[in-house]
Amino acid sequence: MMFRWLEQRPLFFILLLIFVIGGAGTVEMISSFTKSSQPVATTKPYTVLELAGRQIYIKNGCIACHTQKIRPLKHETDRYGSYSVIGEYVYDRPALFGSGRIGPDLLRVGNRRTIAWHEIHMKDPTSVVPTSIMPSYKHLFESETDIATAYVDANTQKQLFKVPYDKEHMPSLGSWQQTKTKTFEYATMIVADMKDKKVKNMLADGQIPQIVALIAYLSSRK
Ligand code: HEC
Repeated sequence: MMFRWLEQRPLFFILLLIFVIGGAGTVEMISSFTKSSQPVATTKPYTVLELAGRQIYIKNGCIACHTQKIRPLKHETDRYGSYSVIGEYVYDRPALFGSGRIGPDLLRVGNRRTIAWHEIHMKDPTSVVPTSIMPSYKHLFESETDIATAYVDANTQKQLFKVPYDKEHMPSLGSWQQTKTKTFEYATMIVADMKDKKVKNMLADGQIPQIVALIAYLSSRK
């Protein structure tokens, strides 16, 4: 009865819908507006290698299966660590909250997985989790990271969004030459924990494989 009555009044129905959805949405958002969006003390801007890894994360569609947002619910905080707060995302442009959890949340994956673990898992997920449906990303072991674009990205973020890529917060970001040297030092540290021969050879040839940047990014998620 009620539905028929509503269906005969399309304009009223539309207005009612807008009111209900808008009202519920506003109620959901209110709590976020009351919280400070200042950076959390432990949140640092990304290094150039991590920024490049973030681009690789975006390009490879990891967001389709992984969220980076921990809700304040006990079963989530037990599994993933403390729930996320707005200030942790201040340097995320764009934020990669995600909405589908085919795989686990990755916001604090750096606390529970090592470089060596990521290496094996990214190459062949089923070798560590036999029932995994995550695809293999072995192509990332052979392709080069575009650190020049990541460097430009960092500088753009500094100018447009005032991300503090300055000496205090980000000593590794200087001139292109300085940044390149620091980025290679960081990559060398990561590769020291890896086994793949091709990755080691590529680095020796002056190229940073994409998997190294991606692991730098994943390890920075804490
Ligand atoms: C088709 C969905 C899918 C895509 C796309 C996907 N994953 Fe996964 N991922 C999963 C599933 C399912 C698991 C859980 C099983 C496992 O560990 O393999 C997982 C697990 C993980 C884990 C382990 C997390 C933990 O706490 O154990 C990491 C790290 C990870 N994925 C990273 C990535 C990255 C980086 C990408 C993109 C390059 C990616 N995933 C793309 C489905 C996906």
